[in-house]
Amino acid sequence: MRVATRSRPLDFALLILLAFVVQASAGPLSAQVTQVVSAHQAAAVSDAPTFYGAVLPIIHENCATCHQDSGMNMGGNVAPFSLLTYDDARRRARMIASAVREGRMPPWSAADMHKGTFTNERILEDHEKATLIAWAEGGAPAGDPAVAPPVPGFLIAAAASNGWTRGEPDLIIEFNEEYCLDDDLRDIYVDLPATITADMLPEDRWIKSVEYRNGPAVHHIISAVGGLVPGAAPRVYDDGYSRVIRAGPRDVMFNMHFNKEPGPGTAVCTNIQAGIIFKEPGEEIRHVTGGDNLFITPRDLLIPAGASSHSASREYVFEEDVELLSFMPHMHLRGKAALYEITYPDGKHETLLHVPNYAFNWQHTYKFAEPPKIPAGSTLRFTLWWDNSENNPNNPDPTVDVKWGRPTDAEMSQGYMSFRKMEKSAFVVGDGNFPTPREGRRGR
Ligand code: HEC
Repeated sequence: MRVATRSRPLDFALLILLAFVVQASAGPLSAQVTQVVSAHQAAAVSDAPTFYGAVLPIIHENCATCHQDSGMNMGGNVAPFSLLTYDDARRRARMIASAVREGRMPPWSAADMHKGTFTNERILEDHEKATLIAWAEGGAPAGDPAVAPPVPGFLIAAAASNGWTRGEPDLIIEFNEEYCLDDDLRDIYVDLPATITADMLPEDRWIKSVEYRNGPAVHHIISAVGGLVPGAAPRVYDDGYSRVIRAGPRDVMFNMHFNKEPGPGTAVCTNIQAGIIFKEPGEEIRHVTGGDNLFITPRDLLIPAGASSHSASREYVFEEDVELLSFMPHMHLRGKAALYEITYPDGKHETLLHVPNYAFNWQHTYKFAEPPKIPAGSTLRFTLWWDNSENNPNNPDPTVDVKWGRPTDAEMSQGYMSFRKMEKSAFVVGDGNFPTPREGRRGR
């Protein structure tokens, strides 16, 4: 059993977060407000938007996939607290106002130009932000429970399933040992192995779905069997589409971010389960889903001490026609921005994804609603920026040159992408044929 202590690079960010929490929990907001509200101000307070009338609909639509108390929400990931009841939300009204005002919640990092491009975007309209802030500033009134919106279907389904929403998995992968977090720990990033034995998976198989069930404090997962961020739905491969999971014995590494509210009695041991369902024999796999990692090679990466906008690029030429499914840029504490641009064979140039303010705390996968069609011969250019100056509040040490490495105080430079090939393949589930290992799975 391993016990994690708070990781040093995050101390500064933690102090800031703690300051918010202390401020936000200084006392029940309604009590504070009652103290300062004089008789003629009380009328203004009653004009404030109410929880049931105006706030809860916004929470249902924009926050509830993550901030709910069912442990099995949409793939099994939970935010540290629920916001579904009046009491849950009222106690955190100020924190909610500051989180939406400063754009920390809901978490999303793509540039405004991409509005509508990605299926999993999370954006609050200005009037929704204003409503949440006015509610908090107006004393967080409850309003009339009779006007509360109906509980959304996905919350009912999550509470009812209390298990695998896709059915019993054919293969369950979990860490070789539980991971334990101390009372005072808020955030930690670690790589943990899960062994797939030959008994568990004697032969290669085609994947139909991947769903996660997590213990407490799991914030996000990055792994070769598919990652998961809070609020993500299970990954399901439609008819004709699939990717291969290779036979054991082998270890699958899970890059984990654990996160909880710190404090006495919050120590917890946790694990994950990745539940995989295989395709039924006979299904024709016409399109192998694969991916590649646009990796800025470790020996090239050197971010000078103090540099506020160091950048590095890499180009990738598509050798066959594909449809792009998703991108996921990955850096560490000094990550600043990311850009994916494409030049088509006819010379036309397009920005496919711009992340102007990369948030280290959030490893978003940007999933295209309409997958861009990329003809063979197109060139993708992937560029990353890092801020190694003292102006980056996450920077653990602006006085050192930084190289590539796994710990969060070194840097990573990955540009994962996932695509499906348009050239028809002729695999049939159960015929024993699989693409060669290079295809159908993430490259180096
Ligand atoms: C994708 C999942 C997700 C969604 C959607 C989401 N949150 Fe969060 N929220 C989290 C997680 C996880 C944390 C824990 C801290 C962190 O990772 O930043 C958090 C932390 C918070 C915090 C405390 C920390 C802070 O930054 O102040 C507040 C307040 C909050 N969320 C409010 C909201 C509100 C309001 C919405 C909807 C408008 C929302 N969240 C939507 C996952 C989510």
